[in-house]
Formats: sequence, C-alpha cells, structure tokens
Amino acid sequence: MDHFELRNGELYAEDVPLARIAAEVGTPVYVYSRATLERHARVFREALEGLGRVHLAFAVKANPNLAVLRVLARAEYGADIVSGGEMARALAAGMAADDIVFSGVGKTPAELAQGLDAGVGQFNLEHEEEGHVLSALAHARGQRASATLRVNPDVDAGTHEKISTGKADNKFGVPIDQAPAMYARLAALPGLRMRGVACHIGSQLSSVAPLEAAYARIGKLIADLRAAGHAVDRADLGGGLGVRYRPGEVVPWPADLGEMVARVTSGWNVELMFEPGRVIAGNAGVLLTRVIWVKPGVTHPYVIVDAAMNDLARPALYGAYHHFEAVHPSGERMTAHIAGPVCETGDTFAMNREIDRVGSGDLAIFRTAGAYGATMASTYNSRSLVPEVMVDGDRFAVVADRIGADTIMNAERVPEWLAD
Ligand code: LLP
Repeated sequence: MDHFELRNGELYAEDVPLARIAAEVGTPVYVYSRATLERHARVFREALEGLGRVHLAFAVKANPNLAVLRVLARAEYGADIVSGGEMARALAAGMAADDIVFSGVGKTPAELAQGLDAGVGQFNLEHEEEGHVLSALAHARGQRASATLRVNPDVDAGTHEKISTGKADNKFGVPIDQAPAMYARLAALPGLRMRGVACHIGSQLSSVAPLEAAYARIGKLIADLRAAGHAVDRADLGGGLGVRYRPGEVVPWPADLGEMVARVTSGWNVELMFEPGRVIAGNAGVLLTRVIWVKPGVTHPYVIVDAAMNDLARPALYGAYHHFEAVHPSGERMTAHIAGPVCETGDTFAMNREIDRVGSGDLAIFRTAGAYGATMASTYNSRSLVPEVMVDGDRFAVVADRIGADTIMNAERVPEWLAD
C-alpha cells in the first residue's frame, strides 16, 4: 500500500497535489512519501516478529537520499552499505555505526580501514584475502572486527540475470562447499571475530521458494560450522523481496517471508539479520514527469516525456516495467510508446502500452521508482541530475537539489596546453 492516490480526479502524494510539486520544483522530479516509507518499514519489521533478536539493515544502495535514510534511522533500521560513500551517508543520517553492515565484493583496503575507524558493526567478507587484509588492519588498531563469510548457496533466484547474485558462477560470495575450511582459517586470524554467515541471492524475487532453498543450505552450513567447534551467533539473510510493479502482479508479502523464515530457521539459535531495500523504498516513490510532445508514430504515437533513461535507468537496463499514470486522468485511454529525450533507442519506457490519454504539457508519473531510481541517475546527454522531494502529510521539502548541467560543467576544465 502506498500514499500516491487520486483525489477528485487528481493524483496526490499524501496530502500534496503532485501538480503543486511540479509547479514549484519543476520536472522531472522524484517524489517520496514519508508515510509510505514508514509503513513499509513497520510492516517488514512486524512480519519478522517472533523470530527472536532480528537486525534490520536497509540496503542503502536502493535509496541513499539522506532524508530517506533519516526516516529509516528513526524507524530503528541500520544500514547495509557497499562503499565508503554509503557509510558516510548512513552515519550522517543518524544510524549508529554498530548497526551498519559493510557488504560488497570490492571493498578497498582504504574502505575497510574507514569502516574500522568508524566502528562498523559487521563486515560481510566476500573472499578469503579480504579477511586477511581486514584482520591485519584491525589487529594493527588493537581491534577484532566482527565478520561473517558471505556464501554463495548456488540457487537460481529466478529473477532478471542482471540482478541475480546467488548462482555458482556469480561474482558474489564464496562457494558454499569451500566455506567450512575457509571459515576455519578466517576464525584463526587475530583481528577477526567470525560471527557467522551471510547470503543474498538476488533482487526482485517473485517467490520466497529460492530464498527457502538458500536458507536451508545456510542452516546446514551453520550446523557444520558448529560441529567443527565454531561459535556462530549471526546469520545475515540478505534482501531480495520483490515488489509489485504491474497492477495485479503477484509478489510475496513480507508476512510470507516471515512465515518461511520462522519455519526454516527454527533451532538455529542465532541473531537473524536482513538487508531489505526495494520492499521498503520501491513503492514509496514516483518519478513525476511532464509530457513534452505526443509525436505521431508508425504504429502508435510516441509520448515523449521530460524524464529519460538518465533519470530512471531501470527500463533501459533491465527492460523493467514502471506503471505510467496521468496526474489528471480524463478517463480516456490510448495505446502509445513512451520515451525520453535522450538520443538512444533504449531511452524508451514502454512500447505498445495502453495508458491514460495524455497530451503535450500534461503531467504524469512512473510508479515504483523509490528504489534504484534517483540513485542510478546520471547526467548523460548533459542533462541535469534529477532532484528529489519528500512529502510528509500536507508539506513537502526538496531533499536533493536539481544539479544543473552548468554545475557539472564547472567541475571540468580544459588544461592550459589545450587552451590555444
Ligand atoms: N543486500 C545485498 C548484499 C545486495 O546486493 C542487495 C541488492 C540488497 C541487499 C538489497 O536487495 P533488495 O531488497 O533491494 O532486493 N539496480 C537493480 C537492483 C540491484 C540490487 C543489488 N543488490 C534494480 O534496479 O532492479
């Protein structure tokens, strides 16, 4: 459930008409609903009640905006981060260092050191050498870093290949059959305190079955590690729950995840950790855009909007569906292609789609844009970096400025030896 709804024929974000935001901030612009974020954070937490001690770390990569992170910090979420930059954001938003989980297949030694200096609560190691480097850095500081080993359980997440991470040949984690021996070597290092294991098999999962298969293997691994004499007190079960992009699309609910996890992890006797991203932020944001032209096409007209693949990359990258709706729908429908102004055929949001009838100058939204939206934006074609707004009841604030092409250009220079 979200708070982007029609009221008297006009789309609102909570109690703010989207047209007001377009008038005051311009388009394209991302609009987030605080109430929706809070609701999703609460529903996800409630779904895991009864599992004992649970640690929730929002996957910052899904939406690193400071105001979004602040809402989640207030909802007592920690952060799952993959870079020093994400760490700085989580800390700036008020998340406790101890509640931060440092994931990522390419953490640099400098980033590991940054994490140790900040007091990050857990490092999810992706390979053995990383563990040796982290141990040496921690030992030199007189610390023992809490760590888990991220294993690759070799299950097919059944999702888009570009967001699938748990098959044997993906770059993430270590093969599960090599994990026990590696864990033993890591546990012997002076600068590490090995706490358990982590896994994340992919994103936008349309069923919890692949997660169940992965968790069953994790459970077996935990038992093997304990049998070998290791103390295991944490299991990080990652993120990945899918959300509804298309009307009527069937996706698992957080409660389905909770029920499955309760069944599969019964008797594990560990602190369970989760790294949800999309399920918290996805439907808490829309991309508000204005139709520039409706251009006649050969089969159907092209609705050319002022948002483009540089603002919302998912359709171009993954063929992703984002539902399109007019802000002032007339009730009439049309079949059209929807595209942005960028000079690439891939800058197309939809082909042959039945949508609300729109004309030049009309406002519209792409839904489910709160996760992996603004954060994946670029300035391709020397377009501005898209701004972000957060709505809270009947008020709103610009929570990220539009960064103009001029500002980006001002960060560039022509060397003296090219000046003449
Ligand atoms: N934990 C780890 C280690 C991850 O790699 C990810 C996502 C998450 C948690 C959060 O997963 P979520 O709950 O959001 O599914 N840009 C792509 C998604 C990439 C996801 C990468 N990892 C997209 O737009 O669909």
